[in-house]
Amino acid sequence: MPDIVAIAGAGLIGRAWAIVFARAGCPVRLWDASTEALTGAVDLMRGNLEDMAAQGLIEAVDPVANRVTPVSTLAEALDGATWMQECIAEQVEPKAALFIEADRWAEPDAILASSSSAIAASRFTEDLPGRLRCLVVHPVNPPYLVPLVELCPAPWTDAAVLQRARQTMEAVGMVPVTVNKEVEGFVLNRLQGALLTEAMRLVADGVISAEDLDKTVKDGLGLRWSFMGPFETIDLNAPGGVADYCARYGPFYERLQEQQAAHRPYDTALVARIEAERRASLPERGLGDRAVWRDRRLMALLNHKRAATDQHGS
Ligand SMILES: NC(=O)c1ccc[n+]([C@@H]2O[C@H](COP(=O)([O-])OP(=O)(O)OC[C@H]3O[C@@H](n4cnc5c(N)ncnc54)[C@H](O)[C@@H]3O)[C@@H](O)[C@H]2O)c1
Repeated sequence: MPDIVAIAGAGLIGRAWAIVFARAGCPVRLWDASTEALTGAVDLMRGNLEDMAAQGLIEAVDPVANRVTPVSTLAEALDGATWMQECIAEQVEPKAALFIEADRWAEPDAILASSSSAIAASRFTEDLPGRLRCLVVHPVNPPYLVPLVELCPAPWTDAAVLQRARQTMEAVGMVPVTVNKEVEGFVLNRLQGALLTEAMRLVADGVISAEDLDKTVKDGLGLRWSFMGPFETIDLNAPGGVADYCARYGPFYERLQEQQAAHRPYDTALVARIEAERRASLPERGLGDRAVWRDRRLMALLNHKRAATDQHGS
């Protein structure tokens, strides 16, 4: 567990990471270039923590919130910290500039992690003297409710740093996976992108409505996916396991690949159609409340998963 955690960027993901580390007992120093973002951050976190306490996911708000200290410079945040989690804008130049500063000010044994969703660590750490200690640690929003985190090293990231990153993530209650090679979108967003692109194609071709497509996932595929992955799914969907499944259905999936291979743009007309369908069932003014609803459903699901794991195993 890190002695102190420095978080750069107090937006959606920076605040969420602060909750993850503080919930695990780590003192957190939160810094942002925008005074406005920093000033409101702890109050916003308190709102999230109150919801978590109401769902029994934490015992009390104050002990967690009080571990987070907003600070006015990056150097102050890094003083004594053994982990930095960068959560600033998703652009190469600002990340590169911040990592130069962080590498200069951080303790010699500190790990420098980026929350980047899609920019590989090699694009903003190559020229750093301390590049061996840098990697992407990509969360899913919000990481205090969705534990999966992708560890995405650059080609030069030290194996010992990767191992410490894995141990640290486990120690703060996350579920780390390692992405062995730098690929655009890492793994989670590549999977999400494959599904989304096919969903767009099916709606564009008039095969299904956006609403029924969503039902296909939430009342179909998604029920299993909340506790097992696609490989375990197919292992159980044929009497002889994966090999049997692939022998029966492999040719069908291979035929589909040919139909799905052609590039299909997310064109304006299609996006407008899906937007219109969504806004008819959820007006734009309701998006914020619905996000709160989503997080409460996630909290209930987490509680259920914990109870079900205790009862049935994982
Ligand atoms: N939002 C998501 O669902 C999600 C999920 C996983 C990863 N991420 C990644 O996390 C990072 C942050 O995303 P977010 O959604 O929290 O964005 P955000 O816009 O909510 O917050 C970014 C914060 O960084 C600050 N900032 C921007 N540039 C800065 C700089 N140069 N120095 C210091 N502070 C700076 C801004 O003031 C802002 O408060 C991005 O790399 C994003 O790709 C986002």
